[in-house]
Amino acid sequence: MKTENIVIAVDGPAASGKGTLSRRVASFYGLAYLDTGSLYRGVGWIMLSRGLSPRDVEDAEAAAQAFTLDQLDGADIRTPDVGRAASVVAAMPEVRDALLAFQRDFAAHPPSGLNGTVLDGRDIGTVVCPDATVKLFIDAAVDVRARRRWAELTQRDSSISFEQVLEDIKRRDQRDSSREAAPMKAAQDAHLIDTSELDIDAAFTVVRRAIDKTLMKSAMEG
Ligand code: C5P
Repeated sequence: MKTENIVIAVDGPAASGKGTLSRRVASFYGLAYLDTGSLYRGVGWIMLSRGLSPRDVEDAEAAAQAFTLDQLDGADIRTPDVGRAASVVAAMPEVRDALLAFQRDFAAHPPSGLNGTVLDGRDIGTVVCPDATVKLFIDAAVDVRARRRWAELTQRDSSISFEQVLEDIKRRDQRDSSREAAPMKAAQDAHLIDTSELDIDAAFTVVRRAIDKTLMKSAMEG
């Protein structure tokens, strides 16, 4: 079975389980992990924390070009406001171009000792790593995803209502999948995995089966 320079692309909408599954995949197969959403969240957070409008293309492009992960030390990027700002800047081709090299470089150069990388996002299998060894598209029904995100968010702020979270997720899905630049969609050769009725262990079993099948096939092909 192929064990070197593996790239696993994991795409899907918010709260589909792709982040948790990607981290488990990375640790199980000995791969590095990049949450590409944190790059867009990072740019969104920089805009908000500097009092800039996330809709300002020039400022957002400059923030994306100067972006490094250590700028996020101590930053709270998991808030609904930052999620919304991320989805606004993520629709700008200028911002996406600025972050593309960072993501491809990560995929091409896993830290030494690791067998490859897992990247999760919205366009990894379609744009960032179209030649990824394995592509997964993780999805779940919108009300299931909203309930998961609501359970997470209410641990920090009990005033957030389920309806607010549902509305927010629907708006973000719509913006992410209808934008012209690298819209969220499953690559043609992605394994489609619906986690609506699966807990994380069951979903991981399905994911592992899909990965092993593809790795086995690519080992046999060459
Ligand atoms: O995955 P997460 O919810 O952290 O992503 C935040 C936002 O970043 C998404 O709503 C999406 O607009 C954007 N994003 C993207 N492409 C990626 C990863 C995230 O457009 N590869």
